[in-house]
Amino acid sequence: MYGPPPLAERIRQVEERLHVISALATALEDPISVLQLIVDTGDEAEAMSALQERYGFDAIQASAVTDMQFRRAIGRQRAGVIDERDHLSSQLTDLRQAVAQQQAVAAHYDARAATYDASGMHRDLAALVAEQATDLGDGLVVDVATGTGLVLRAIATRHPEARLVGVDLSPGMLAVARTALPQAQLVQADASALPVAGESVDLMTCVTALHLLAEPELAFDEWARVLRPGGRLVTATFSADTGGPARPDLPQGFARRHEEYRTPEQVRRAFRDHWFELESHTEHELQGDRLLVCVLRRVG
Ligand SMILES: C[S@@+](CC[C@H](N)C(=O)[O-])C[C@H]1O[C@@H](n2cnc3c(N)ncnc32)[C@H](O)[C@@H]1O
Repeated sequence: MYGPPPLAERIRQVEERLHVISALATALEDPISVLQLIVDTGDEAEAMSALQERYGFDAIQASAVTDMQFRRAIGRQRAGVIDERDHLSSQLTDLRQAVAQQQAVAAHYDARAATYDASGMHRDLAALVAEQATDLGDGLVVDVATGTGLVLRAIATRHPEARLVGVDLSPGMLAVARTALPQAQLVQADASALPVAGESVDLMTCVTALHLLAEPELAFDEWARVLRPGGRLVTATFSADTGGPARPDLPQGFARRHEEYRTPEQVRRAFRDHWFELESHTEHELQGDRLLVCVLRRVG
């Protein structure tokens, strides 16, 4: 297992901690009464059931209050516990939003999978991105948010020896990719948790998908983890809002953060704290869309 734990596991960990810290915060509203209750009861079991009865705690919370955690919490002062509780609550909200974003994105692209390859813009863009794959030989390529695998297909045409991995959230898009590219490893996974060993990748690509990432900061760290030092990342983003066709026929309900990746300077800044340097960029007009292709190098 590589990379950070999946979202569901991170949510479980935060919920578990929030459950305990919420009980400590409640107990700290009136620590004298809680201590008195513990002192007045005969043993720990009795103290726990008295706490459950008076404060509505469950056994895990009552045990956290009766044991060391409560004494430690008093030492840390109430403000620290309240801060941690509020921080955990907002972390949980963000994680749940990330899950919702991923589910909505997957539903949208599942519905679009059968017709996606008809887009001349996406096919032309894939060919342009593949031109950046030089000196690849049998190197390892990871295409993040690969969709139907258009970029990997274009790379395979130029470099038949290259080893290809594509990752996407949408099973429907991946099914199309698998038919077109039986030789590639195509995995349903999030961009922030790649099934790839550290410093093993020669080239990464992420084409027209940065704006969809639920947790871009985490994803960029993950890409830095898997790319070998000096390896390249090629991104393609929409450099102008051309309106594009409205698709009320498809499931929606997710954020599109195009505004964050419109210019080379924005892309440079987005990656600069994640061990990437912008090496070059080009701008293209494809079938009415304006696109920015950036080549970044893994440094450090
Ligand atoms: C516009 S398509 C681009 C597909 C492909 N890169 C191309 O150029 O044709 C966007 C793709 O990003 C995928 N995607 C969005 N967020 C993702 C994430 N967090 N992890 C993996 N894939 C993601 C979607 O499922 C969808 O297939």
